Amino acid sequence: MITIHELRSKYIEFFKSKGHAEISGKSLIPENDPTVLFTTAGMHPLVPYLLGEPHPAGKRLTDYQKCIRTGDIDAVGDPSHLTFFEMLGNWSLGDYFKEEALAWSFEFLTDPKWLGIAKDKLSVTVFAGEEGIPRDDVSAEIWKKLGIPAERIHYLPREDNWWGPAGETGPCGPDSEMFVDTGKAACGPDCRPGCHCGKYFEVWNDVFMQYNKDSEGRYTPLKAPCVDTGMGIERTVAMLQGKKSVYDTEAFTDVLAAIGRACGKTYASGDDSGKSFRIIADHARTSTFILGDPRAVTPSNVGAGYVLRRIIRRAVRHGRKLGIEGSFLPGIAEVVIAVYRGPYPELEENRGRILEELAKEETKFLETLQKGEHEFEKMLPNLLKNPRKVMSGRLAFKLYDTYGFPIELTEELAAENGMTVDRPEFDEAFKKHQELSRAGSEQVFKGGLADHGEAAIRYHTATHLLHKALRMVLGDHVAQKGSNITAERLRFDFSHPDPMTPEQIRRVEEIVNEQIRRDLPVSMKVQSLAEAKAEGAIALFGEKYEESVKVYSIGDFSKEVCGGPHVERTGVLGKFVIQKEQSSSAGVRRIRAVLE
Ligand code: SER
Repeated sequence: MITIHELRSKYIEFFKSKGHAEISGKSLIPENDPTVLFTTAGMHPLVPYLLGEPHPAGKRLTDYQKCIRTGDIDAVGDPSHLTFFEMLGNWSLGDYFKEEALAWSFEFLTDPKWLGIAKDKLSVTVFAGEEGIPRDDVSAEIWKKLGIPAERIHYLPREDNWWGPAGETGPCGPDSEMFVDTGKAACGPDCRPGCHCGKYFEVWNDVFMQYNKDSEGRYTPLKAPCVDTGMGIERTVAMLQGKKSVYDTEAFTDVLAAIGRACGKTYASGDDSGKSFRIIADHARTSTFILGDPRAVTPSNVGAGYVLRRIIRRAVRHGRKLGIEGSFLPGIAEVVIAVYRGPYPELEENRGRILEELAKEETKFLETLQKGEHEFEKMLPNLLKNPRKVMSGRLAFKLYDTYGFPIELTEELAAENGMTVDRPEFDEAFKKHQELSRAGSEQVFKGGLADHGEAAIRYHTATHLLHKALRMVLGDHVAQKGSNITAERLRFDFSHPDPMTPEQIRRVEEIVNEQIRRDLPVSMKVQSLAEAKAEGAIALFGEKYEESVKVYSIGDFSKEVCGGPHVERTGVLGKFVIQKEQSSSAGVRRIRAVLE
């Protein structure tokens, strides 16, 4: 029976045999992408390359990528939803197109040397077309030639067979999806691939990236059409093993057993406690990966840190439902690390941080919970008198505001007592009291891919100038610790022990503005990482790089390993102004700057 680790290796091996370079998956926390908190798909770190930037490893790439999607977080606990998952992918950057992509997908799925899925169990879907974009007969013909009969080739509309952009803007196009028939009876005459009754199981998605959608909603053809494919490891292995649930695969066996030891119960998928087991298993895995990431965030009240806090706290609460009183998440995380340390050595490297942060957040939350639940109990007799069975949003907000008791948990407690919470009223109170940064992060929470608009590109180049200028003024110990760009500003975190003096800030601004005045050309070359370092290029410590990397030089001023994109000349940047210099965390300073 194939395991998650075997599927991962087989996939990479197969595409290497088809001339693809294996690249390493990237961080879960995207850098320089203001529109998302986490990497949401295998193609996400490749967006600039799908839009035409040359990739140093070539035009055929394959990798496995850790992803987080929190849009469905409330569905976690059922047998199929996960917040963290691994995605396998292969890409053509303006190289092969439909013919090869579909033929290779078919070969990998059906050849006994690879997955060996019976051909007569495969169904596929292709784009049905719409105004201005033709029906994808080309893909349908290819499938026929490969041996899929017409009755198992389904033409479906945009809703099913169009992918991206994941956010407002970016690469997108029609796709073709592959399904395995599980043998279950059809749910009705309209049952077809894409139906959610469980008969058809989606295993793979081949996207034919042909357009870039811009912020005005226009679709312009890409310079070179690309292929982006994605296969979810957990789901596919569940199907190959004949399991009904991703939680029945060995990705979770040891984790669920460890939860069982912590609470003195055995995991049984069907009973009530099964849901709590699954929520803890999923959330413990996701938080272990976030805390084990080279660009880890820690629990906080904004952005990705807030998502992390929410999932840790939800896991703790379900632990309590199972009867676990004290701290248990670090123990579960140890098991997650043991399962994944092979393909993800960063988990082992960051073991200390993972365990410490989980224990810290658990303790904090247990105190909050005790207080909040106690207050809820006190309110309960009165609440139960309400004939509409609705708890007012104002009261729910009081629990949040006074005791830090999360609204999701208030809603759960209310539901356990047959009530709902007036959420619009809560949201209104919540909005009024939240500082702007939090509101901003909620917006990002909705997700979407990077807007590589002109403004953001200018800030990206300005960030390189700033980085170099800081090293000149403060010293070579300055290293980038984080960077975040929007169309309105840049934010740059760097290692430095003390606050900068006004004189140092002025000096840095001056140096950057001088490089802008010089209108320096920006150039890029591909070289080995060792060569780049030997030539004095700045590379980020702790970042995973390919063997060949892209190195961006700004005139004779700066040289940095970076994926791009950048402006062509610094003259277009305008005037660089540092608005704020403050502490970010111990030993790390944060600068916020704008281009005027
Ligand atoms: N981008 C597509 C997906 O996420 C294929 O990789 O499904």
